[in-house]
Amino acid sequence: MRILGIESSCDETAAAIIEDGKRLLSNVVQSQIDIHKAYGGVVPEVAARSHIEVINPVIEQALRESGSKWDDIDAIAVTYAPGLIGSLMVGALAARTLAIIHNKPIFPIHHVEAHVYANFITEGNMANLPSTQPSFPMLALIVSGGHSQLVLFKSHGNYELLGQTQDDAIGEAFDKVAKIIGLPYPGGPSIAKAAELGDAFKYPLPKAKLSGKYDFSFSGLKTAVLRAVQKEVGVDYSFPSHELPGLLSDVQRRDFAASFQRVAIETLVDKAEAAYKDYQPSSVVIAGGVAANQMLRQELSTRLPLDIQYAPMQLCTDNAAMIAALGYYYAQSQDPTDPYSLEVTPSLSMTKTAWA
Ligand code: KG4
Ligand code: ZN
Repeated sequence: MRILGIESSCDETAAAIIEDGKRLLSNVVQSQIDIHKAYGGVVPEVAARSHIEVINPVIEQALRESGSKWDDIDAIAVTYAPGLIGSLMVGALAARTLAIIHNKPIFPIHHVEAHVYANFITEGNMANLPSTQPSFPMLALIVSGGHSQLVLFKSHGNYELLGQTQDDAIGEAFDKVAKIIGLPYPGGPSIAKAAELGDAFKYPLPKAKLSGKYDFSFSGLKTAVLRAVQKEVGVDYSFPSHELPGLLSDVQRRDFAASFQRVAIETLVDKAEAAYKDYQPSSVVIAGGVAANQMLRQELSTRLPLDIQYAPMQLCTDNAAMIAALGYYYAQSQDPTDPYSLEVTPSLSMTKTAWA
């Protein structure tokens, strides 16, 4: 079964073709990072307009590169939630139109669930794909720009939220700390790079203590970085924070990046380890943009007593292959949606299963 996946929830316009929920036939991602860099973050109206410009060529390229004609496509899977409303609408409208014109079943897909399903892609023309699919029960550590949560999957679509962030998402914390210390957007990769040469024990930063055993919090850590930077350069909270980076040396910047990254990653791994011990899952996966972080991968592999297979970096950050992969499993048990009434839902978190 061949599924065309379409993703446009934030600042990546993407289309991909996946066969039988695991075989990657094509994966096209058009990133808007360069457009938003100038503003230090994603500008929603600009994002939506950029999606409109490229969505059709991106879909055509995905079909062409997979060697598929419309006759070969069995269904369309499209992100309907969560995300920026204008961005979501562009992908959804394109998918609905194509479903109507070509008479294909259409499945609305939850973006955050789909990040988890990137781990089910095991075949195709991409380096570093896992050799086997994860087995159930599966513990998923979801770490993206908008989400930080631990979810236990008992089977496809049958899952339970164990814990989540009480304030900022982990990716958001990387992005905000990068701004404080003057590293370019997106903050995750630039902090990881700067941290390579930094001293991770230079600045003592606190780990949040929470009542929920598997819950996270990153807002306090972010503020602690801000206070430590102010102290280091000898100004107080009244100093304009956008002028702070100019007072930091490159060495200080790297040490702050490394110290923040160490505490942020340790926090994630502490909670994942606690959940692992309590639930004894047969596999552990990580999902979302921050899953591209090398330190997170190393720490998890060191501290958990099982072999973890990580998805390639390109499948951790936003893409449509994960949408098409989840679309396949979803289609096994769910009826398609009426393309005339499919609507987007900008805020919808993953608590209990969204599958019927
Ligand atoms: O999943 P994603 O691409 O978009 C959302 O659905 O949110 O995640 C984007 C987030 C950003 O906050 C970005 O800074 C972070 O993932 N990120 C990283 C790395 N690469 C991307 N964070 C830490 N280390 C990385 N290597
Ligand atoms: Zn995402």
